[in-house]
Amino acid sequence: MNRPQLSSALALIAGIIFTCQAAHAEFKQPHATGIETYGYAWNSPDQDMNRALAHKADAGKGEAAYKVCKGCHKPDGAGLAEADYPQLAGQHASVIIKQMMDIRAGRRDNPRMYPFSGEWIVSAEEIADIAAYLNQLPFPTTNGKGNGYNLPRGKALYLKDCASCHGKTGEGDAKKFYPMVAGQHFSYLKRETRESRDHGRRNASPEMVKVLKNYSDADVEAVSDYMSRLNIVR
Ligand code: HEC
Ligand code: HEC
Repeated sequence: MNRPQLSSALALIAGIIFTCQAAHAEFKQPHATGIETYGYAWNSPDQDMNRALAHKADAGKGEAAYKVCKGCHKPDGAGLAEADYPQLAGQHASVIIKQMMDIRAGRRDNPRMYPFSGEWIVSAEEIADIAAYLNQLPFPTTNGKGNGYNLPRGKALYLKDCASCHGKTGEGDAKKFYPMVAGQHFSYLKRETRESRDHGRRNASPEMVKVLKNYSDADVEAVSDYMSRLNIVR
C-alpha cells in the first residue's frame, strides 16, 4: 500500500470508529430511578404509556411493525431461551406496553434491546399495535423448561407466594399489568425472579420483591421450573 492509499484507508477507519461512537452515544439507554430509590412507586403514571393504552390498536398494523423485533423475539413470538430473549406470544398487551415504556424511559435496563425500542423506531401507537398482534398469537408450549428435579417444592412455593398475582395457571392479570408467566422460558423466568429479588430489575413490583426476600437460589430455580410448565388452555 502506498502513502495516499494508506492515508485514505486510515481516514476510512477513523470515520467508521467515529460513526460507531456516535451511534453508541445516541443509543445509550437513559437511566431513570427505580426500586433502588427510596419512595419508588411501581407503575406510576407515564404519558407515553397512556398514549399507547388509549390507542385503538390494530393487530394487522402491529404485524408489520413487529418486523424490527423478529430477529430476537422470532417470527412466532417465542423468543430464544438460550439468549434470554423472552417469549412474547399470548402475553397481555398491557404488559408488553408497560415493559416497552419502562425500557424506553430507562426504568428497566435492557441495553441490547434499547436501540430497537425508541421513538425513532416505533411510536407509542405502533407499540400498542404490536402488543395487540402479539397478544393474539398462539401460545407456544415448546418453551425452555428446567431440569424437573424439584417440582413439588416449586409448586408449593408458587401456590403460596405467586399465584395470588400471576394466577393459578400462570395467566397473570391484564388489568393490573401482572405478566403471564405460563409458556415463558425457564432461563428467563429464573433470571427475572433472581434479578427482582436482588433489585437488578429496577421496575419490579415491591410487593413481589418482599415475598422473594428470603428465597434461596434453589427456591428460585424450583419455582421457575414449575412456572415454565404451566399451561393455559385457550
Ligand atoms: C436485539 C434483540 C432484541 C430486539 C431487536 C428486541 N428485543 Fe425485546 N427483549 C430483548 C431482551 C434481551 C429482553 C429481555 C431483557 C431482560 O432480560 O431484561 C427483551 C424484553 C422484551 C420485553 C419484556 C418481556 C417481559 O416479559 O417482560 C418486551 C415486551 C419486548 N422485549 C418487546 C420487544 C418489541 C416489541 C421489540 C420490537 C419493537 C423488541 N422487543 C425488540 C431483546 C430484543
Ligand atoms: C403482588 C403481586 C405479585 C406477586 C405476589 C408476585 N409477583 Fe411476580 N410480578 C408482579 C408484577 C407486577 C410483575 C411485573 C413487574 C414490572 O412491571 O416489571 C411481575 C413480574 C414477574 C416476573 C417477570 C415476568 C416477565 O414477563 O418479565 C417473574 C418471573 C415473576 N414475576 C415471578 C414471580 C414469582 C416466582 C413469584 C412468587 C415467588 C411472584 N412473581 C410473585 C407481581 C407479583
